[in-house]
Amino acid sequence: MSALSFTVQRRQDPASDERRAEILANPGFGVHFTDHMVTATWTKDGGWADGRVSAYGPIQLMPSAAVLHYAQEIFEGMKAYRHADGSVWTFRPEANAARMQRSARRLALPELGEEDFVASLKALVEVDQAWVPEADGSEASLYLRPFMYASEAFLGVRPANVVTYSVIASPAGPYFSGGLKPVTLWISQHYARAGVGGTGSAKCGGNYASSLAGQLEGIENGCDQAVFLDSASQEYIEELGGMNLFFVTKDGQLVTPELTGSILEGITRSSILELAKDEGLEPVERRIPIQEWKDGVASGDILEIFACGTAAVVTPVGELRWEGGTAPAVGGAEGGEVTRSIRSRLLDIQYGRAEDSRGWLTRL
Ligand code: PLP
Ligand code: COI
Repeated sequence: MSALSFTVQRRQDPASDERRAEILANPGFGVHFTDHMVTATWTKDGGWADGRVSAYGPIQLMPSAAVLHYAQEIFEGMKAYRHADGSVWTFRPEANAARMQRSARRLALPELGEEDFVASLKALVEVDQAWVPEADGSEASLYLRPFMYASEAFLGVRPANVVTYSVIASPAGPYFSGGLKPVTLWISQHYARAGVGGTGSAKCGGNYASSLAGQLEGIENGCDQAVFLDSASQEYIEELGGMNLFFVTKDGQLVTPELTGSILEGITRSSILELAKDEGLEPVERRIPIQEWKDGVASGDILEIFACGTAAVVTPVGELRWEGGTAPAVGGAEGGEVTRSIRSRLLDIQYGRAEDSRGWLTRL
């Protein structure tokens, strides 16, 4: 049952057609935002209420708002894709809704029902549909960012009694500007992203804050991204700060780290595990020692490595570096054959160029 309805107050000063066209011609990632946003408020006594679509702009928060002190915040990341006939679709929103509910439980935030979640996306995209890039084969989309935070003005450490849900939208080109150029990864040995019993499997802002020092260390060492290992033994591969990892092996397996509680269960990851069969590969989820990566690229047992996520889609991974060593890239300068094939398979479904046989698309 949907509890929320969204009233619409269109802004008086939307971006001009010229300005919007200028932005859509070169959107970048996460820098430009559409004219409107969604908000709704939850109170302990009244539940979810006051759903609205209004002008995108600064929000009012007391300096004592709990989120600013104790980081009680979660978010989601998804995209709206325009198909050739002009219609606009999103990918597996029920999976994002379910993940947001799991994140909410872990961060002691209220759950938002799947119907309300999907309705909030529809409400925003309906008003801002001119911001969804044209289907010109360029892989541009409208990135949707639902998020929820403790907006109660209170400094006691307890779950907030007042919470705000919001959705903003940002036209997006490729997440990495280098095209399909493989990203170089740094093994972060000093910093963990998440630990046993922590919040690693929730999509909460704190995980991203804790990934930044490792990411910075990687950049200082000439890498694009950091790869995080399990914090207990520092032996097993977990994921990147914002992407899951896959390995294509010589014996026809597509291997990804199994979910241990400290890895985010990516929706791209689970979709690729299903698409593996169409690719003639055996999907495998298991613990992967970092030593296996180093040995596997040297012995030829690992043929390709790629990272995946909503923002980055499927991105080839190149060289691996750590303090005192490197392991060479595999898969070639533009990603291997399997990496490119899985990438196209996924994008073709998302952009309506291939049949959606699994019912993954929802019209917005
Ligand atoms: N891992 C982390 C830490 C992420 O932030 C993301 C991005 O959302 C992913 C993995 C990939 O998840 P998804 O495929 O649902 O975007
Ligand atoms: C996404 O892929 O949607 C993410 O959330 C990754 C990053 C932008 C935080």
